[in-house]
Amino acid sequence: MAEAALFDTFARTPLRFERGEGVWLVTENGERYLDFAAGIAVNSLGHAHPHLVEALKAQAEKVWHTSNLYEVPGQERLSRRLVDNSFADKVFFTNSGAEALECAIKTARRYQYVKGHPERFHIITFEGAFHGRTLATIAAGGQAKYLEGFGPKVEGFDQVPFCDLEALKAAVGDNTAAILIEPIQGEGGIRPVPKEFLQALRQICEDEGILLIFDEVQCGVGRTGKLFAYEWTGVAPDIMALAKGIGGGFPLGACLATAEAASGMTAGTHGTTYGGNPLAMAVGNAVLDVMLDEAFLENVRDVALVFRQGLAGLKDRFPGVIEEIRGEGLILGIKARVPAGELVGAMRSEHMLAVPAGDNVVRLLPPLTVTAEEAREGLRRIEKAAEKLVANDLKKTA
Ligand SMILES: Cc1ncc(COP(=O)(O)O)c(C=O)c1O
Repeated sequence: MAEAALFDTFARTPLRFERGEGVWLVTENGERYLDFAAGIAVNSLGHAHPHLVEALKAQAEKVWHTSNLYEVPGQERLSRRLVDNSFADKVFFTNSGAEALECAIKTARRYQYVKGHPERFHIITFEGAFHGRTLATIAAGGQAKYLEGFGPKVEGFDQVPFCDLEALKAAVGDNTAAILIEPIQGEGGIRPVPKEFLQALRQICEDEGILLIFDEVQCGVGRTGKLFAYEWTGVAPDIMALAKGIGGGFPLGACLATAEAASGMTAGTHGTTYGGNPLAMAVGNAVLDVMLDEAFLENVRDVALVFRQGLAGLKDRFPGVIEEIRGEGLILGIKARVPAGELVGAMRSEHMLAVPAGDNVVRLLPPLTVTAEEAREGLRRIEKAAEKLVANDLKKTA
């Protein structure tokens, strides 16, 4: 392979995929991998889903891009469907999760500004959070490893320990605009936030006149077995960022908000060249065609149960490898007793893909179209990987 003329920002695994079919990815050499990474929760309907392929092809033959100078019918349709199926009244489309978060942060700050509180621009976030890699979103995530060397941290982000209500209350001040939280931390290690904590946040926001922002970029769009993770909690946010699964592999993000929260985002305050372009809208609408069928989400919940029970069995059989199973629906994590990277590597030798996360967790994020049989196949491969790790360990100690 010729040395690639690429930035060295990614430590890539030497696998080269040529095509995909459902939950399978096939390399250039024809080797098949069971894909429980799904592009990090992106390929929500698996690879080459016929309905998405058809929607993309049909749109490609009509018009690719017109810009937001003009009306885009696909945006009108997709925004209406998102609004009809959520807490929100308004939607802004982006190309990525970080941009959806940027829009969410700007929307919250502008809300306070137009309410006569320009001093309220601080956003409170939580340790372990991940909100993207732009300058504002690395400040929001607050992780030193992502901030280092990029100049002063963007002002206005205050971080408190994960789910620490007292610390949160102490951090709320006259300059607070909003609280930003992932209902289930993804990259932080598949850490669900207890619903009582989200309920307490909602109450604090009401009492203090501040906004609640949910980052559902990873945990949203069907992943938990409901369209949005917050639906399990009885708590609705004022603003929510989406991406990943909503585009099924096509770059697409969205910032959803109530009309009140979006009241500062008037003409000219924000913009994007590509966000909401006709190709993205065709695919986003096609994803919802499939997902808005209640039988689809019911199936996600059923398969998730099979998978989760199987994982619990593996935890009992391999206590030296698996410490805990975490998560909801099909956003699951194995907290490992061996280094998470080793478990991911052992699974890869069994031709199964998963993603490491913080807190020594292996993320399992299969396409939401995964069948019970494919979930069992995944369990068999994790079992073999765990057996190998145990055998290696025995060899080391022998
Ligand atoms: C919870 C969460 N927010 C935001 C982002 C950033 O999304 P993107 O990489 O599309 O900018 C991610 C990406 O992993 C994420 O998991």
